[in-house]
Amino acid sequence: MRLVLVGPPGAGKGTQAEFIAEHFRIPKISTGDIFRANVSGGTELGRAAKKYMDAGDLVPDEVTNAMVRDRLAEADAVDGFLLDGFPRNVAQAAVLDGILDAIGSTLSVVLDLDVDHDEVVRRLSGRRTCKNCGHVWHLEFDPPSTENVCDKCGGELYHRDDDHPETVRHRLEVYAEQTAPLVEFYAERAQLVVINALGTVEDVTERAIDTLTPFAG
Ligand code: AP5
Ligand code: ZN
Repeated sequence: MRLVLVGPPGAGKGTQAEFIAEHFRIPKISTGDIFRANVSGGTELGRAAKKYMDAGDLVPDEVTNAMVRDRLAEADAVDGFLLDGFPRNVAQAAVLDGILDAIGSTLSVVLDLDVDHDEVVRRLSGRRTCKNCGHVWHLEFDPPSTENVCDKCGGELYHRDDDHPETVRHRLEVYAEQTAPLVEFYAERAQLVVINALGTVEDVTERAIDTLTPFAG
């Protein structure tokens, strides 16, 4: 399965991507995670991306596209993948089409996680991310058993720099301006399926897997 996950910031893409990728045995490729790993590793790519991420803007397409092109060329992505956070605008979607065309392939489906604005704000303000393994927790909805410590790996948890209220507001504007037209584009191509992403994490995972199963090759 070649799957793209879309949805506004805080919709639960990263949370669901872990379970969906595991269920369908495909690699999860999250552009936000790759950028954050490069920022904390102090690489050239991280330095190129950081100021855009901190401001809640998209990293320029040429940087993002080159990174995704390299990642999709790796052996584990040949038979399928889950892309979380890419494409994020119509120009990136055209680049993805080109990459798939070149190997005689196409996307299986695009899954849109639908949540309302108030829920996004609630989810992002309580989010805590593990510095070590990247797992996401929530202070209220999915708290770790020890404060600020990841149950999965013992790593330290942090509040993302781009989760502060002003930056969240800007990320939502960027989503409306640049990513909403992308969702429309996939709907017109009849590649989009939408699920309600409200409810518990388990409920949403079940809904996602039920919806995606017919597209698994
Ligand atoms: P990225 O990391 O992709 O951020 P995003 O799209 O804004 O999405 P988030 O990671 O904020 O949210 P999510 O939907 O994954 O939610 P999560 O599962 O964590 O991108 C960050 C930045 O990188 C961008 O701003 C940009 O600068 C750059 N970038 C990335 N891709 C790019 C691209 N293609 N082009 C250019 N730039 C790019 O869940 C949120 C919280 O809610 C968590 O605490 C979780 O525990 C909780 N939660 C999840 N589900 C539920 C539930 N059902 N009930 C209750 N709580 C829940
Ligand atoms: Zn961890």
